[in-house]
Amino acid sequence: MRTRPLKVALLGCGVVGSEVARIMTTHADDLAARIGAPLELAGVAVRRPSKVREGIDPALITTDATALVKRGDIDVVVEVIGGIEPARTLITTAFEHGASVVSANKALLAKDGTTLYDAAARHGRDLYFEAAVAGAIPLIRPLRESLAGDTVNRVLGIVNGTTNFILDRMDTAGSGYSEALDEATALGYAEADPTADVEGFDAAAKAAILAGIAFHTRVRLDDVHREGITEVTSADLASAQRMGCTVKLLAICERAADGKSVTARVHPAMIPLSHPLASVREAYNAVFVEAEAAGQLMFYGPGAGGAPTASAVLGDLVAVCRNKLNGATGPGESAYTRLPVSSMGEVVTRYHINLDVADKPGVLAQVATVFAEHGVSIDTVRQKGKDGEASLVVVTHRAADAALSGTVEALRKLDTVRGVASIMRVEGE
Ligand code: NDP
Ligand code: HSE
Repeated sequence: MRTRPLKVALLGCGVVGSEVARIMTTHADDLAARIGAPLELAGVAVRRPSKVREGIDPALITTDATALVKRGDIDVVVEVIGGIEPARTLITTAFEHGASVVSANKALLAKDGTTLYDAAARHGRDLYFEAAVAGAIPLIRPLRESLAGDTVNRVLGIVNGTTNFILDRMDTAGSGYSEALDEATALGYAEADPTADVEGFDAAAKAAILAGIAFHTRVRLDDVHREGITEVTSADLASAQRMGCTVKLLAICERAADGKSVTARVHPAMIPLSHPLASVREAYNAVFVEAEAAGQLMFYGPGAGGAPTASAVLGDLVAVCRNKLNGATGPGESAYTRLPVSSMGEVVTRYHINLDVADKPGVLAQVATVFAEHGVSIDTVRQKGKDGEASLVVVTHRAADAALSGTVEALRKLDTVRGVASIMRVEGE
């Protein structure tokens, strides 16, 4: 074993960074044996230097992250600050000054992964980011390496722990939305600004990363259709329960049947209770990958939280250090297919629509006509009348999303439709 240590700079020492530092210290001997050289924590950049950080030598703390990555003797920079800047500049500066990078920053990778990949390739460094998608679950490496010889056609799953925690609490414990969000934040699952979680930005960033790697193309955050969970009500959850379903925030990345384009989307959807994703509770994540030769693979585990995420970061750190000692680098960006990303309107899916309508002769026929005019076939209809009003629940067969949203728009214009109480896509059947 080499006695000269590999020097690690830790940028950020919050929920994830503090766990990375703890595991590096408590498992130092095992990590050294697995890498073939000891690791040395050479500096820790934070925003608030006076904060007490258990187990960390105060002499290592700095607020000057730029000076730390420019030192020239750092082997690996671990970026767990989050956000776009200064993270992006710090990472590219680290590459320029001789370091490889491990990051958990999905927001940055989805927004400007190309800049990071290019800088890493230009300087002959590694860029690893297993922790950026689905916390502890090994998913990036299986897609980038284990499935590099196969053709992935679909990636579908729950990739945000906070929203899954909230929906699970609302569904099974009757918790209120705000109460469940506060709990997820206290447990360290939520982003610094939880809007990123509840509005679907975090899951959309992960979908962009997964789609890019799975389909060997470039997919950016703006290419991903995004809807969060802020509009999901307890009435939606109750309605889902009546249909033998539950509601999950899903990320779905698909290659078109002709193989000439891809789509990526994040939105809440009803899934049957019999589907494996329905039993994914709390902040757990689960992702299905469908590949031509491999068939269907399922990845499941803790999707957020300090220690689970640190596990993924440490795995990358070991891999990058091994590469460094071997004078090699791991895989870079693979975007050779250059497949275009189609819009949400072209996605084929099913809708569950809950309408408040007048309870009088001909209304059902009027509603059915609107569906027929838009080429959308109805699967089931359930009606419950009360005092001249009725609640009409329509579940469609599969149709293009543009046709489904056109149908809803036309339904809203009918005099006999008092309101559209809820619209939700149905997946997983
Ligand atoms: P936190 O907000 O808990 O920690 C952020 C850390 O970065 C803090 O230590 C903060 O310093 C430091 N920091 C912020 N700005 C600067 C700056 N300009 N210069 C130096 N240090 C700075 O975030 P998390 O640990 O939760 O998340 C970190 C990253 O990991 C994010 O990219 C996130 O998306 C990702 N991630 C998080 C997961 C989770 O479950 N929490 C799971 C998977 C990925 P100070 O301590 O002084 O405030
Ligand atoms: N905020 C993210 C989540 C952290 O809740 O899934 C893990 O990426």
